[in-house]
Amino acid sequence: MKPEPTSVRITDLHSHVLPAVDDGAQDLDEAMGALNRLIENGVERVVATPHFRASLLERPAREADKIHRFDAAYQSLVAAATAAGLEIAIERGCEFKLDAPSVDLSDPRLRLGGSDYVLVEFASFQLPPFAANQLLGVRDAGWHPLLAHPERYQGTGGALDRVEKWLDEGTRLQVNARSFLGWYGDEAQSVAAELLRRGWITCIASDYHARGRPDLDAALELLRRAIPTSGDAVQKTPHAPNDATEQAIRTLFHENPTRILANEPTVSVPPLALPKPASQKPGRRWFR
Ligand SMILES: [Fe+2]
Repeated sequence: MKPEPTSVRITDLHSHVLPAVDDGAQDLDEAMGALNRLIENGVERVVATPHFRASLLERPAREADKIHRFDAAYQSLVAAATAAGLEIAIERGCEFKLDAPSVDLSDPRLRLGGSDYVLVEFASFQLPPFAANQLLGVRDAGWHPLLAHPERYQGTGGALDRVEKWLDEGTRLQVNARSFLGWYGDEAQSVAAELLRRGWITCIASDYHARGRPDLDAALELLRRAIPTSGDAVQKTPHAPNDATEQAIRTLFHENPTRILANEPTVSVPPLALPKPASQKPGRRWFR
């Protein structure tokens, strides 16, 4: 069933909508289609975050070529969106893969909207043993790491003590909207719900690769069934919309992403418990 349109103005910090630069939109037509679907989902501001590997910084010529391709793709997409009158702001960023010790992030095009926050990911979907050091390397270089889709790494669910330490050391967590819907399998779905239950998520984003639907609206509607589980915000009626949940949703989809782009500190949300997850959708895990 198609979800009702949301009233939350979404700022989406993670997307692969630049044409022909990575495994997202393959050409300008696909990129424009992706923008239209994000707008239908309630997105008013999106950051294009094409994949960029830290190891590329060790090869300056290739790095310069990659950034130049990002520049050209960004300019073509903004021009096409403007010409079509699309009501969506498109910002620059990248999804920075921590596959090398060097983390020179001085180029603002590598950071989220040119802020001090950087969307980072690990080199494989296995939680690396030196993850803490990699995140600290970003911090020590003067930037704020926003870890993309921690729920998708194999082993995160059994390593929540490590995740808590990353949080204490300044890392923030971005969870994919589709993880709540079971798109990436049972483990990612249950870890996403657990991170929500602990109040550890800073923002929710699409990680949209221009195929299928972004499902931000569906995830948002699902979260409306969540209930706060601690403090004064405890609700007596299970799985019914309430003001505290609605405020948390606005924080996750709008306020914290906006704060990040404005280079401001993020705020925490109350722990929220979701109803028992729906069964996963087999055959869709290959989507990034
Ligand atoms: Fe991504």
